[in-house]
Amino acid sequence: MVGLILAAGIAAAADIESLPGPVIHPYSFELLSNSRYSVHSGFNDTLPRQVLANVLWAMERAPRLGTFRELYVATRHNVYIYDPGSNTIVVHKPGDHRYKSGSAYEVGIAAARHEEVGFAIQAGLLAGLAFVDSAGPGVVSCPMTYGAHHANREWDPNHRIQMVNVYGLADSRNLDTTLVAISSDSTLPEPHTTSSDSFEMVLLDLNQDSAFMPLGLSLETVSQLLWAGYGVAPHRAYNGRRGLTVPSAIAGYYLTGRIYLVRSQGVDRYHNRPPGGNLDSADHRLEPVVTGDRRPELRLSSTRIPSTAPVYVVVCVSDTSSYMRMQEAGFTGFQFLAQARAMGLSGFLTMPLTRDERTAIATALSLPSGQHPALVFSVGELATGISEEERPALVEIVQARPVLRCGGSIRIEYLLRRSGMVRVEVYDMLGRPVCHIFKQKQPAGYHSVEWNGTRDNGELVKKGSYIIGIFAPGSVAQHKVTVF
Ligand SMILES: Cc1cc2nc3c(=O)[nH]c(=O)nc-3n(C[C@H](O)[C@H](O)[C@H](O)COP(=O)(O)O)c2cc1C
Repeated sequence: MVGLILAAGIAAAADIESLPGPVIHPYSFELLSNSRYSVHSGFNDTLPRQVLANVLWAMERAPRLGTFRELYVATRHNVYIYDPGSNTIVVHKPGDHRYKSGSAYEVGIAAARHEEVGFAIQAGLLAGLAFVDSAGPGVVSCPMTYGAHHANREWDPNHRIQMVNVYGLADSRNLDTTLVAISSDSTLPEPHTTSSDSFEMVLLDLNQDSAFMPLGLSLETVSQLLWAGYGVAPHRAYNGRRGLTVPSAIAGYYLTGRIYLVRSQGVDRYHNRPPGGNLDSADHRLEPVVTGDRRPELRLSSTRIPSTAPVYVVVCVSDTSSYMRMQEAGFTGFQFLAQARAMGLSGFLTMPLTRDERTAIATALSLPSGQHPALVFSVGELATGISEEERPALVEIVQARPVLRCGGSIRIEYLLRRSGMVRVEVYDMLGRPVCHIFKQKQPAGYHSVEWNGTRDNGELVKKGSYIIGIFAPGSVAQHKVTVF
């Protein structure tokens, strides 16, 4: 196993186990995406702790969509909960409660949104695969629905675990550079499996940014992004179907024919199978569906869609209440973001979408009925030389109630577009500080903060109106609340 150690863990108390820092492998995000596949059984439980350390680190770096994320780990010794702050695993339930008796690590993910679970699963799958450097015994893994059912029954999680990734040691294949995404009609050039940065370096800098240069992207770039998101890979699934860069429950490939590319010249549908082809076949092509620029209408469908991106990808599902489909949208969203980053581009995920936004997007793009947008990925060259006024606000309030009953508490959900130092403070209507809630560095994504209607000294505030200010570098979002 080739790697460079970033930071070392420290020893801890008996029910707290420290993990080593992540190692950086030499493999690109593209090579790992092309090489991934699921192994469903037949593994044993002898993986080094470094694999777990990298997997948890990678999952934790996946973008956030909700206000909590919990990572549980079952080994043959205990069920643990991961503490990313101290890079430790803490015993949550003693004893062997694994789903698969031969697995080394089973990582369960609990988060508010299935799409976020999808981000973390995909990050964790690639992170494990990066330990495979030749054919033979190596790290194999698989997401398992029944593992999640088992975990919810046996692990006593604080929140519902939506998916479990199972890791073990088994005969593995070598990383695969064979490219099978070859266009049958020359609508897309061949993607590649190389890039200068390793997967872990991509993860280290997986920021979202919503300010773009208005320049269009080349067809090569668009091709690469679409392939990473939902393109064919050389392996076959357990039922003989042609595998993709992302997994899919019972190899159902629920996003087939549901990914739309929106550029100045029109709207195209992305296909990874030939026309009329079944799920055993491979292709890589675009089907034009609308001629003419629909980006202005798309941008108007939601204030959260960045207005300067030259290219958008809209991923639809047939049913937004299906966890399999929403997780699959999450895998794809992670892949788009990581591929954009690997190419030095700026990318931004607008999700989750409200019902009104979904309807507006479907209308803007003249989507056929039954296509329900799950995410919009905006991509382009990173804007340089753009003034702060032209950039969308770095911090934006997503949801908060306007009133607070005396003695209760109020929760404010907000979106941070780039990581940075965030400060949350409450002021009275004369601008005098009342309560300093927190000041800390936060990653880009969705966050929430609660205020229980008290001053810094713990006393309840008087009835009246207050302003809660969320300060990010160069940007502030304010929310007025009336305490009654
Ligand atoms: C949401 C989800 C649930 C899955 N559940 C199981 C499962 O319970 N058991 C299993 O063996 N594989 C499971 N898989 C793995 C799929 O069978 C596998 O991804 C699919 O066959 C495609 O093969 P590939 O991952 O090798 O490309 C699941 C995959 C996903 C995405």
